[in-house]
Amino acid sequence: MVGPVSEVKAVGVRVALDRKPILHGVDLAVAAGSWHAVLGPNGAGKSTLLRAVAGILPYRGEIHVGGRPVAGLPAKQRARLIAYVPQQPQLPGDMTVGEYVRLGRTPHLGYLGVEGKEDRAVADQALERLDLSGFAARRLGAMSGGERQRVVLARALAQQASVLLLDEPTTALDLGHQQQVLDLVDELRATEGLTVVSTLHDLSLAAQYADELTLLVAGEAVARGTALEVLTADRVAEHYGARVRVFDDGAGRPVVHLVRS
Ligand SMILES: Nc1ncnc2c1ncn2[C@@H]1O[C@H](COP(=O)(O)OP(=O)(O)O)[C@@H](O)[C@H]1O
Ligand SMILES: [Mg+2]
Repeated sequence: MVGPVSEVKAVGVRVALDRKPILHGVDLAVAAGSWHAVLGPNGAGKSTLLRAVAGILPYRGEIHVGGRPVAGLPAKQRARLIAYVPQQPQLPGDMTVGEYVRLGRTPHLGYLGVEGKEDRAVADQALERLDLSGFAARRLGAMSGGERQRVVLARALAQQASVLLLDEPTTALDLGHQQQVLDLVDELRATEGLTVVSTLHDLSLAAQYADELTLLVAGEAVARGTALEVLTADRVAEHYGARVRVFDDGAGRPVVHLVRS
């Protein structure tokens, strides 16, 4: 379903917003077909890093996706390579769910911009995969927060890019839909070689799904590796200012629990 597999590689990425330095030389190496989670306290620069990788923010340093520098990619090519789901998407309230998800097909349309059967089939499949088939005619303004989050994900899937960038994709979702969305993304990763870079504020959830993690603190990567390597109680205490205990989920993945003093 997605295009050729693509790795993501960033070296020494620096970003300033309103002339204030936010990222101070961040590296990122994500193998094609793997899932990488970017973690860190509020304001660490996670969303900024994702926007830079998405090619929608000026940066210094190098960011290559599928071997090509994102900064130089024309928008249409970039959209075929990278699907980006922002933390707070702005949705046109009077557009229907079906129309919005079909927008994901825009980078694939030909010269005249006419949708074909294939485009409609891909959009319908994305709706179905996110439990939204019954909502196609509903206006976005009449959807709940969690439903809207699934609509934005459906649009990203309809885009059929080989790299998926997800900024806090589960914050508005109930437990069942969190699992459904993350399982779906993981299935696409495993079966079609989708490369995933996501921020997730739930550390235990990140540990369940990501192959590798980067811990970002104040615009710098302070740790990277597997969840077991990165998510130690001491490190979480140091960088989040939180008292936690780290358990094993029985399958070798850490579970991070807050503990009361
Ligand atoms: N337009 C902006 N101008 C100046 N500072 C900004 C702007 N947008 C975000 N920031 C600041 O950049 C830092 C990183 O923000 P962000 O990447 O959203 O963090 P995170 O996603 O890790 O919570 C924060 O301190 C935030 O206040
Ligand atoms: Mg953020």
